[in-house]
Amino acid sequence: AEIFVGIDLGGTNIKIGCFDSNLNLLTETSVPTLVENGASDIVDRIGQTVESLLGQYGLALSEIAAAGIGTPGVVDVENGIVLNAPNLKFNDTPLRQMIRDRLGCPVVLENDANVTCWGEHVAGAGKGAQDMILITLGTGVGGGIISNGELVHGYANAGAEIGHMIVQPGGRLCGCGQKGCVEAYSSASSTARRAIEALQENAEDSTLQQVLKENGTVTCEDVYDHLAKGDDLARQITDTTAEYLALLCVSLLHVAGPERILFYGGMIAAGDLLLEPIKKYFRQHIWTLQHEEIELCFAELGTHAGIIGNAALATHRLEKGQLT
Ligand code: BGC
Ligand code: NA
Ligand code: ZN
Repeated sequence: AEIFVGIDLGGTNIKIGCFDSNLNLLTETSVPTLVENGASDIVDRIGQTVESLLGQYGLALSEIAAAGIGTPGVVDVENGIVLNAPNLKFNDTPLRQMIRDRLGCPVVLENDANVTCWGEHVAGAGKGAQDMILITLGTGVGGGIISNGELVHGYANAGAEIGHMIVQPGGRLCGCGQKGCVEAYSSASSTARRAIEALQENAEDSTLQQVLKENGTVTCEDVYDHLAKGDDLARQITDTTAEYLALLCVSLLHVAGPERILFYGGMIAAGDLLLEPIKKYFRQHIWTLQHEEIELCFAELGTHAGIIGNAALATHRLEKGQLT
């Protein structure tokens, strides 16, 4: 057997899938990340999980042709090192070598949003688009940019960190240290956070007050649920989420000229409540007539995009002889 393993490393969970060489998913699972235990514990849990997944098929680690792993943070893709991932407490972590040692196969290490973008490019809503962008909306705002059919990394791998594009000078403090990043407003967690702050300050008549009282917190999902029910605070909060994402799209259009911009992450469950306002503000802020042609839409592979993207990138790099 020739097995390809896709590993989608997140701040909360690690999703792992085993694929055949045609990228058919054979088996998958999800295990907790347990960030506080450190990188070697994470690598060990990945190893054990892959072993038990393959064990169901009577296969050993030696059947793996290649593995791909995607992680939040800035990744030195050439040397396989996670330079900086505050959410995972990684700092100059040689993750590729660690996974390679544990699984005994060639490994590709990439930024999480880059791989998700690759997955959608190969098998999802980005099929056929040689110039496309994917925006992930979760704890952070991530991005993958495909230009001329290849992922953009940029000098020192600083490219495609689109969540840290500043949309509000002197604005909210971001986890990266800058102020006014789009991530500090429009990620799922920032959208929830802004709602909670508004509820604590005023907005007595918002229907979200009840949620805050009962659950002690408000999630992004709650905010969109209450938008659907016509709550005014939810409308204001999500309006800002949408307008700043639209500004991000306008800037991305002018930088990279994508044919399509996809949105990905749990937040897209809000459907048109999320997408329509983004489109409205996009049309409002854009200058060029190109907006008639550029498509803003949702990713299609759901929570599988990460594992598929990782496995697909591993096969792609292996075919190009770029994987050792
Ligand atoms: C990080 C990115 C990552 C994104 C989504 C951002 O805060 O800077 O590297 O892709 O979150 O996880
Ligand atoms: Na990226
Ligand atoms: Zn930032």
